[in-house]
Amino acid sequence: MKILVTGGAGYIGSHLVDRLLERGDEVYAIDNLSTGRISNIHHHLDADRFHFLNDTILNEALLDRLASDVDLVYHLAALVGVKYVVADPLAAIKTNVTGTEAVLGAAFKYWKKVVLASSSEIYGKSAKIPFYEEDDRVLGPTSVGRWSYSTSKAIDEHFAFAYAAKGLPVATVRFFNSYGPRLDEKGYGSVVANLVRQALKGEPLTVHGDGRQTRCFTYIDDTVEGTLLAGEVKAGEGLVFNIGAEAETTILELATTIKRLTGSRSEIVFVPYRDYYGEGFEDTRRRVPSIDRAKAVLGFVPKVKLEEGLTRTIAWCREHYTR
Ligand SMILES: NC(=O)c1ccc[n+]([C@@H]2O[C@H](COP(=O)([O-])OP(=O)(O)OC[C@H]3O[C@@H](n4cnc5c(N)ncnc54)[C@H](O)[C@@H]3O)[C@@H](O)[C@H]2O)c1
Repeated sequence: MKILVTGGAGYIGSHLVDRLLERGDEVYAIDNLSTGRISNIHHHLDADRFHFLNDTILNEALLDRLASDVDLVYHLAALVGVKYVVADPLAAIKTNVTGTEAVLGAAFKYWKKVVLASSSEIYGKSAKIPFYEEDDRVLGPTSVGRWSYSTSKAIDEHFAFAYAAKGLPVATVRFFNSYGPRLDEKGYGSVVANLVRQALKGEPLTVHGDGRQTRCFTYIDDTVEGTLLAGEVKAGEGLVFNIGAEAETTILELATTIKRLTGSRSEIVFVPYRDYYGEGFEDTRRRVPSIDRAKAVLGFVPKVKLEEGLTRTIAWCREHYTR
């Protein structure tokens, strides 16, 4: 197949590109390298079946050309990471809303299937655990910048449903805390990257709040597998899927495990949210997916346990993070 991956030089996008090329597809990747990196895809740059376009998804003429040519679109380009979103909410809204509208519009014109990357942030601070895809969303006020990311992804999903209602094949995947090789060293989008970098540098491991907030950390191979399945399984069209691991881990447990696996002697310190994100920051206490639907419809089963995934991630970070 000919496949377009938006955000193809990003963390998840580049792993998806790897898998698609491995299985024999021809891949077009568009990425403006705002948070993506050429080093994530440099091993493919000379390949005949790989075409990299350093451009923005806001370039509608380019999207039109690409959509007319490919069979399937994986739309992952977005401004990601709570810290980036809080720093520049306008860029986040533009990229995540206007950009997605452009991608879906181009796909609709040529009737090409789209897999849309959404987020567990959709559920906001809902306290009803686990999160089912049809659950209510619980968000804070619009004056709190971090909710703009959740809202922008929700608008994307509404766009997807609207196009699906017109018959376009669209499947949406809500990722839960993906981690693995190629995580951005700055760690804005990832507590795993932050803690591993700190542990390797011998700096204190910073845990926000009391560290008892939980997440379900999902190894990149599982994230990509769920994404691929959403592109392949016809019964998934018109639906939204939680794509994540089910094991719930507190951030303090995560820090302790990373400290042990890296052999770090750093201490673990607790940092108030306001010191990192500023006043008024609101966090989600627990975030756990139900993956019943992804299992039943897509046949998605996450395979990599946290310790195994962290061991592989740390091995990669040891080689690639600056010391
Ligand atoms: N990593 C996670 O745990 C996670 C969780 C939930 C949702 N997601 C979603 O998964 C997708 C991929 O995220 P990621 O973690 O790989 O982050 P990432 O920042 O590595 O990937 C996003 C990519 O989009 C590119 N991009 C941004 N604006 C663009 C534009 N205007 N035009 C073209 N490219 C642009 C960036 O350069 C980057 O390469 C995003 O849609 C994100 O919202 C990720």
